[in-house]
Amino acid sequence: KGKRAFIAGIADDNGYGWAIAKSLAAAGAEILVGTWVPALNIFETSLRRGKFDESRVLPDGSLMNITKVYPLDAVYDSLAEVPEDVKANKRYAGASNWTVQEVAESVKRDFGSIDILVHSLANGPEVTKPLLETSRNGYLAAISASSYSFVSLLKHFVPIMNPGGASVSLTYIASERIIPGYGGGMSSAKAALESDTKVLAFEVGRRHKIRVNTISAGPLRSRAAKAIGFIDMMIDYSLANAPLQKELLADEVGNAAAFLVSPLASAITGTIIYVDNGLHAMGVGV
Ligand code: NAI
Repeated sequence: KGKRAFIAGIADDNGYGWAIAKSLAAAGAEILVGTWVPALNIFETSLRRGKFDESRVLPDGSLMNITKVYPLDAVYDSLAEVPEDVKANKRYAGASNWTVQEVAESVKRDFGSIDILVHSLANGPEVTKPLLETSRNGYLAAISASSYSFVSLLKHFVPIMNPGGASVSLTYIASERIIPGYGGGMSSAKAALESDTKVLAFEVGRRHKIRVNTISAGPLRSRAAKAIGFIDMMIDYSLANAPLQKELLADEVGNAAAFLVSPLASAITGTIIYVDNGLHAMGVGV
């Protein structure tokens, strides 16, 4: 029987979320997507107009089908928490039911259950600032959007996840090694995400037989990464220094994610898997 996946954090065809969706679709999963509210219109319009059709092609030649796109802002757990100015904001006013709790309820109403939960989102408003120059609000916003968002998604989706289900998120090595330029508390947010991967693996493993893993991915020229400002340098650094001196394709991360949420990985939980051409293993650049 085909599995159903909910992938949070797709707004174009350049990021890891899109690649994960494709790998899961190629393996036969039904794809549901959660798209950040301010990016929803352009994503849906582009999808409808065929702008992504070339990137929708699966290995068998068919096109990936996205069954439904839900508006989502993973910074808000329920409607009661949404401030008036956000409700009134014209980028939000056109959509509804986009808090984490409401999205989980909508998915339950539409489909009953899911098997796979993917978290492929992050946001740090002060990411270009060094940690020492990051404001309290900027730091907490990074943690809220990039770390707690996973806790919240898992919490609200676990009740509709089938036993044997699995979740996966995306992290970055700046959590454990110094990567100057990955600022604004984003390095801290990834450290929290990785630690939470272990604690949550325990909690939902014991209670619900659900697995939780995270992929520490190498650099990809996604929309989010371009906003940080140093992505080309990181890609060049990896090409020069990693054990595998090749471009890292988003599909390679997509395939690893598809493995991790599949029965092939049925004993793997609470882990960080590096999909980075091996760069994490280097001690010095040579
Ligand atoms: P991306 O831009 O494709 O994905 C980030 C997504 O997060 C966007 O679709 C954005 O709309 C969404 N988003 C931001 N705030 C949100 C919110 N409050 N609610 C819902 N959605 C929200 O970029 P990318 O790089 O593929 O990012 C996916 C994940 O991969 C992130 O966790 C990122 O930190 C991680 N990653 C990326 C690397 C890279 O070099 N691109 C390296 C290692 C990890």
